[in-house]
Amino acid sequence: MYTKEEYAKDCQIHNDMRRLVDSDVNRLNYHLMAPAGWLNDPNGLVEKNGINHVYFQYTPFDAGWGIKSWGHYTTKDWLTYKEEEPFVFADNRLDRDGAYSGSAIVKDGIIHYFYTGNVKLLDGDYDYILTGREQNTIHLTSSDGFHFSGKELVLANSDYPDDMTTHVRDPKILKDGEKYIMVLGARSIEDKGCALVYHSTDLSHWHYVTRIQTSEKFGFMWECPDLFKLGNQLILSVSPQGLEKEEARYQNVFQSGYFLVDENHGDYTVRKFEEFDYGFDFYAVQTFEDESGRRILMAWMGLPMESEYQEDPTVKYNWRHALTMPRKLVFQNDAVYQRPLKEFEKLRKNEFQSQISEFTQWQTENCCFEINVTFSNPAESFSLRLRDDVILTFDGSLLSLKMGESGFGRTQRNIALDKVSRLQFFSDTSSIEIFINGGRYTMTSRVFSDTLKQIITFDSKSDGQLTIYDLKKFNIE
Ligand code: FRU
Repeated sequence: MYTKEEYAKDCQIHNDMRRLVDSDVNRLNYHLMAPAGWLNDPNGLVEKNGINHVYFQYTPFDAGWGIKSWGHYTTKDWLTYKEEEPFVFADNRLDRDGAYSGSAIVKDGIIHYFYTGNVKLLDGDYDYILTGREQNTIHLTSSDGFHFSGKELVLANSDYPDDMTTHVRDPKILKDGEKYIMVLGARSIEDKGCALVYHSTDLSHWHYVTRIQTSEKFGFMWECPDLFKLGNQLILSVSPQGLEKEEARYQNVFQSGYFLVDENHGDYTVRKFEEFDYGFDFYAVQTFEDESGRRILMAWMGLPMESEYQEDPTVKYNWRHALTMPRKLVFQNDAVYQRPLKEFEKLRKNEFQSQISEFTQWQTENCCFEINVTFSNPAESFSLRLRDDVILTFDGSLLSLKMGESGFGRTQRNIALDKVSRLQFFSDTSSIEIFINGGRYTMTSRVFSDTLKQIITFDSKSDGQLTIYDLKKFNIE
């Protein structure tokens, strides 16, 4: 268990930890991070009365995997944020080993939250896959996003199909006419990943309807499912575990991507899995629709513990991981495009413009900048040095992100591509996010440079326009 009272005590005991955390040069300027300790998945993303709530999997004061609470930031404009007290604690018989990931939906002015209460039983010889774990689906309601009523158990292990292991979690809700659809990520006894589908009309009583799965096995577990519509297209986002590496796909320990879904009288067929991101640090996507109707995605800019990289240097400063920039989703050409939110244009200062052919080099003082490249004709080949030892190259068929020592074990990621016409590149002190061809592909990574005073160079056979901006820090109150 980890209660609000223990958290309050820890805040006193560790009150100098914030100074240590804040002294780290790798603290990001415009990304959300754990105030101190560990962060993973974005949770409960929702906007109510103009306030966006960003909750996240949080182990306060411990930069490793521990009992999860829901950390909490709010923002009205995505530029100024308020750090709030953690929202949910693992303080109950139903969630004592972690208030795991979940989501939010507004109904009649009330925010309804659903999350997984993780319980590890200790009274037997368990393998924690087939036995020994409770995954309780818990429901909370709140009128303001800061305080909630009691924890209501809506689904327990006995409510999941008989052929499931004890890995069933991460509820996400979609409204469909008068009914609500819940998807839960699951691992079957046959070690096949799938999403379980439940229906409800009142958000308290749920019944099992079907499951969404592929005909051939596609990983052993699907974490963090999210079923949503972009225009008329139904999309299922999942984070599958256990995919075999391919030449230029599935390079990370676990993936995050989406299927296009066809629904026919309650039966779902999925096609065309596409990774959301081709970089090194990207997992556990969650989306939500804001009050202006935008579908916004955020992801954990990190990976589960089985990561093959070296330990991030931030751990010495007692914090680890961050969330990606919020990205607006658009469906076109049969694919999901990701675009940085327009609000981030307000971070720009000191514009610098050049023809690519006339560009020699540009110097950054703190690695917080944005580069926009538009080729006059699709590029034949180029080599863009984004940092001293981080290079993006294109040879006409393969786009490669190559990292040296600053990658801390992250070496190379590729996308098979026949053309590159546009690039938008965001660098923060210790992260990079690259949007390719208007956001059709993205590459996201952490990077830990020795010095933030760096030179950017660009070697390209194809001409076009290049614009660079320094980026300001956002405010956290
Ligand atoms: C994904 C995940 C979720 C789980 C949470 C626990 O990263 O493993 O499936 O709910 O993290 O922190």
